[in-house]
Amino acid sequence: MPDMLVKLYNLADDWGFLAEQAAKGIVIRKPIGPEKHLLVAWVKQHFSDVWSSETDQALSNHPVSCFVAVQNQQIIGFACYDATALGFFGPTGVLEENRGRGTGKALLLACMLDMKLKGYGYAIIGWVGPAMFYEKVVGAVMIPDSTPSVWKTWVH
Ligand SMILES: CC(C)(COP(=O)(O)OP(=O)(O)OC[C@H]1O[C@@H](n2cnc3c(N)ncnc32)[C@H](O)[C@@H]1OP(=O)(O)O)[C@@H](O)C(=O)NCCC(=O)NCCS
Repeated sequence: MPDMLVKLYNLADDWGFLAEQAAKGIVIRKPIGPEKHLLVAWVKQHFSDVWSSETDQALSNHPVSCFVAVQNQQIIGFACYDATALGFFGPTGVLEENRGRGTGKALLLACMLDMKLKGYGYAIIGWVGPAMFYEKVVGAVMIPDSTPSVWKTWVH
């Protein structure tokens, strides 16, 4: 699967999506230390071992390069960056029953703006699945000849 490129410098510094999600009872925030084992296990349970491993990496960064969506004290979604490789966004996922409410978009934007604040000029969306989602939300464009990218020699 190819990678996509996002021009962080073109993204508006607008965190309004936090209030939009809050109005739906959803909190978008960074996980804290005691939640690490819970989130790593949650990603493994609902998505995959590989994504769980990448989430563990994002939660080992200081500060953590990861956001969660929480509703009624339950995790309903997550998004990471600087997990697969530096400058890369992903993995991300929202529980199927919670999709279509702007949570995936909010998690993606939180990571993009966090990266921008850190000083990145561009973000790479690694191993893209829903390309239209990334194109629509952050104007991502395909990077030519980017398969298999950093996964070229991975052992799995
Ligand atoms: C991709 C994913 C995170 C989107 O989460 P979500 O909470 O349903 O997305 P949102 O509700 O925030 O959608 C934001 C916008 O993107 C659109 N969108 C969402 N998923 C899309 C998709 N797969 N393809 C095209 N557009 C999509 C929505 O229609 C919405 O458009 P609108 O603002 O005009 O209403 C979710 O579908 C998911 O977890 N998928 C499985 C895991 C996955 O594929 N992760 C990405 C790996 S690269």
